[in-house]
Amino acid sequence: MDSFPDDIKTKIDEVNQFMNNWKLKPQTWKNIRGIAAFSMDAAKYAYRNWEPRKGDVFIVTYPKCGTHWMYEVIKQIYFIRDSNWLNFLSPKSGGFLSKPIYLDHGPKAKFEVMDHFTRPRIFTTHLPEELVNFEKIVKNDARVIYLYRNPKDMVTSYFHFKSSYPSPPELAHLRTDNFDKFYKQLINGEMWTHVPEGEWYPYHIKSWLKHKNENCVKFLSYEDMKKDFHVVVKSICDFLEVERNETEIAEIVKRCSITYMRKSNEGEEKMFYRKGDVGDWKNHFTVSQSEIMDDHLKIAMKDVDIEFQYVI
Ligand code: A3P
Repeated sequence: MDSFPDDIKTKIDEVNQFMNNWKLKPQTWKNIRGIAAFSMDAAKYAYRNWEPRKGDVFIVTYPKCGTHWMYEVIKQIYFIRDSNWLNFLSPKSGGFLSKPIYLDHGPKAKFEVMDHFTRPRIFTTHLPEELVNFEKIVKNDARVIYLYRNPKDMVTSYFHFKSSYPSPPELAHLRTDNFDKFYKQLINGEMWTHVPEGEWYPYHIKSWLKHKNENCVKFLSYEDMKKDFHVVVKSICDFLEVERNETEIAEIVKRCSITYMRKSNEGEEKMFYRKGDVGDWKNHFTVSQSEIMDDHLKIAMKDVDIEFQYVI
């Protein structure tokens, strides 16, 4: 394994300490309200003071759309020939480098650690477009993958996630085990999900859609990944300009199956690997709830060039 200079080791410890002592708290920047994996200071620092590099990938998602899955796919694509590095980044190493690295989370030292690495870097974020410095991404020839998922499965996944995730005391009034209440809170824009008050998922997608046709941006759906994972993995390799042979692609596909990932993430990260299906929403939505959501989306996603797939 690479050995790091002492100052980088100290900074890694500093970031780990920050993450271990992190308390979820509601924060706002430019009207955008967020809680989890979200520290305004990190988001502002990344925007104003930090430069991405060629090879960097930013995985952008609304929560519960497959962030961890995509992170693993790209990690495997980049480092399948670099098993020491893969081991270093694996859950068994512990620490902040063993989990998805959120662009907008952590102290300044996190960026200093990441800048020390010469390998390509992978960041995740739930930030809407206006809080990410897209100009710098283009200028430095980095890449963005926007992963979206049908909203009914996303809400279902979120509902289960919320019940295993502590909400901060300030938002305790939003905590509920009632699905009807939960999904209404979400679509009415009451939740702090990286969008302004009154908004939810459609706002997030639309904020990024304006870049859909740029060369450094790829939009992908969770459902296409489920339908034809092998083909999607190859398309991501092409997008990242990484050559991988068929044996490697097959290995990546295997390592990124939900069963495999669940096994490697048995600790606190376990909650990110639940069912991993398309269509679980049917076990949660009544016909009337489903129709309310359809009507809502008809308006919110009017004139938007995205087709959600509710079954595959
Ligand atoms: P479900 O709750 O519907 O199962 P995120 O990482 O953005 O929080 O998304 C979590 C969702 O992605 C969960 O959905 C989780 O099970 C699913 N997921 C994680 N890894 C997966 C994989 N390898 N294949 C398919 N789905 C996966």
